[in-house]
Amino acid sequence: MSKIQEMEAKYIINTYNRKADSTPYLVRGEGSYLWDDQGKKYLDFLSGLAVNVAGHCHPQVVEAICKQAGILSHTSNLYYTEPQVLLAKELVDKTLPGGKVFFANSGAEANEAAIKLIRKFKPGRYKIIAAERSFHGRTMAALAATGQKKYQQAFKPLLEGFSYATFNDLDSFEALIDDQTAAVMIEPIQGEGGVHVAEPDFIEGLRHLCDRNGLLLIFDEVQCGMGRTGKFWAYENFAVKPDLLTVAKGLGGGLPIGALLTGENCKDVFIPGDHASTFGGNPVVCAAALAVMEIISEAGFMDEVAAKGIRLKRELEDACPSGEFRGLGLICALELERPEAKYVQEKCTEHGLLINAIGDKILRLLPPLTLSDDELEDGLAVLKKLI
Ligand SMILES: Cc1ncc(COP(=O)(O)O)c(C=O)c1O
Repeated sequence: MSKIQEMEAKYIINTYNRKADSTPYLVRGEGSYLWDDQGKKYLDFLSGLAVNVAGHCHPQVVEAICKQAGILSHTSNLYYTEPQVLLAKELVDKTLPGGKVFFANSGAEANEAAIKLIRKFKPGRYKIIAAERSFHGRTMAALAATGQKKYQQAFKPLLEGFSYATFNDLDSFEALIDDQTAAVMIEPIQGEGGVHVAEPDFIEGLRHLCDRNGLLLIFDEVQCGMGRTGKFWAYENFAVKPDLLTVAKGLGGGLPIGALLTGENCKDVFIPGDHASTFGGNPVVCAAALAVMEIISEAGFMDEVAAKGIRLKRELEDACPSGEFRGLGLICALELERPEAKYVQEKCTEHGLLINAIGDKILRLLPPLTLSDDELEDGLAVLKKLI
């Protein structure tokens, strides 16, 4: 056990279940690779759980961070700062023109902001219908929205007003609507729940359902947004637009950020004093995010993500016909027939490939979007051997 691992066990609350004998102690990253303290190199098919969309230490991101850190690293949201405003413009132009942005520091915080905004939108209406198997974060409102009992059990009573319908079953959402319902909240692709992609009829039907009943439709794109599916937002794969969208993870190029984007219909719901964040929209983080936006907006970038996703799907389906492949672009999962996901994850780590096991059977892959064809080939070679 290294000194750092010993200290971790002594000083850090054990919420992540790291294991000194098998969990890498990482010291450096570059492109699609990470290195541990022993100099062992890992191909990263996890990207910090969908964060490093432009890989590790992308030169444009590093330059933006260093430059901004030397100019102005923090002030208060009581004042104007440039990177925050420029980033908001980029996000609005790309997403819901006519809308606005609130900046936070994580996915859960972006969802907290969304839930508060929904509660204020139509007085008397406060209920939100979320999906079973969803994941929206660990803070109390986001946890209440998360349709997984295992995360909620120890922390009751939860914030009231949430119910859970079956993902991809429109009737089950309709059945939960009453006159206090304010919104429907879903991930277009459920990430943490095992990578389940919304069916076009379902998500388009949800839009109509919300319009008919005067409900807001919110998409949590914290994990599936930022180019992961081969489109800037996952919802662009469908013929729908949300009223509210949350983003985090991939936006900050490795620095913490979260944002709530609103459509024009709810851009002025919050007024001064309703919501705030000391660090939200921090200049360094926003400068990094602007660099990420530039990288993934380059011509042809999204087509390449989509092409790599198709290849990943084809090769994994061929290699493991007994498994079920799910995903879109570079957010994907292979559900194994037998409960061997943890074993495969450990073996992959031994062979220098970082992937993520969800539960007993699901392998989740979230490589950097900048992954080269050769790197994809190398990762697939390890995976194919082990599954
Ligand atoms: C869809 C989704 N929403 C929200 C969150 C919470 O994000 P954070 O961990 O940044 O609070 C996650 C995290 O995995 C997520 O996947």
